Amino acid sequence: MKHLLVIGGCGYIGSHMVKCLLNAGYEVTVLDDLSAGHADALLGGELIVGDFGDRAVLDKAFAARRFDGVLHFASLIQVGESVADPARYYASNVAKSLTLLSAMKDHKPGPLIFSSSAAIYGEPIRSPIDEAHPRQPINPYGQTKHIVEAMLADFDRAYGLRSVSLRYFNAAGADPEARIGERHDPETHLIPLALQAILGRRAALKVFGRDYDTPDGTCIRDYIHVDDLADAHLLALDYLWRGGATTAFNLGNGEGFSVQQVLDVASATAGKAVPYVDAPRRPGDPARLVADAARAKSVLGWRPRYADLDSIIRHAWQWETRRP
Ligand code: UFG
Repeated sequence: MKHLLVIGGCGYIGSHMVKCLLNAGYEVTVLDDLSAGHADALLGGELIVGDFGDRAVLDKAFAARRFDGVLHFASLIQVGESVADPARYYASNVAKSLTLLSAMKDHKPGPLIFSSSAAIYGEPIRSPIDEAHPRQPINPYGQTKHIVEAMLADFDRAYGLRSVSLRYFNAAGADPEARIGERHDPETHLIPLALQAILGRRAALKVFGRDYDTPDGTCIRDYIHVDDLADAHLLALDYLWRGGATTAFNLGNGEGFSVQQVLDVASATAGKAVPYVDAPRRPGDPARLVADAARAKSVLGWRPRYADLDSIIRHAWQWETRRP
């Protein structure tokens, strides 16, 4: 039986990945320092509580078990915070990732799947965005993902460490059985904020800008179900196990929805309107981010199961109404 190491497996996307790996019959070990993740988000597997930037922790984990691959989800993710405190972002997202890659070079625990982001493209010059689109991040968060992708290319050339970088667009939704879901603190993402506003758990949602060059003036994003993201990782592992070359894939539905459309679907799902107020633009938000994910479909055979916004928001709503 294949055994995977999931770094950051107690976080939002990582915990759905662990579920997907367990369902597929793999053995799972999670390494998470619980700085942002939740131990009770693990639906199985073994948990090592530790810092993936600590070489001694990695050496111990790699020496104790034989892994067939590593999935790396541990990351700081707030764009605004990365602008205010880039030192923290480079230290965590870049320096710790370098420690991980160096340990993998020495222990050779199989190939790596890396959580990258649409943020590496910066302000799009065309839409939808394919993988060949220029990569010019406009904030330190995006820059950290861009740098790790560059390190991965160099580590393959020099040491034969093969990897797939998956460039997520807007991860959303939750386990359809509502056992796990999005639990960020602080929460900054549109869908959970809108649903929590409906439930009266927080103040009215601020709509960040109605003066964008889009049909209704609000920003357009490509929302992709977290379980569909997890499926793509499984396919990327298979691709690497079959000898596939180091590469990157966009993961999105290829369809954009505006902030107002998200609020409309959220209101219909909950049967109650999202309380909102109009607010100024949030710095660094491009008007439109939509994926061309044709390569993930043709090369990996990826087929998103929950491509419609209704399912994504319905699952997020079920989670919000039942979460701990
Ligand atoms: N929005 C609001 N009000 C809010 C929160 C968000 O109007 O309270 C709007 C944003 O302005 C944006 C859209 O809703 O237009 C989506 O915002 P999110 O914060 O949910 O997601 P982002 O598109 O900003 O960010 C996502 C990931 C980031 C990643 C980025 C680019 O969460 O990690 O995509 O890839 F960096």
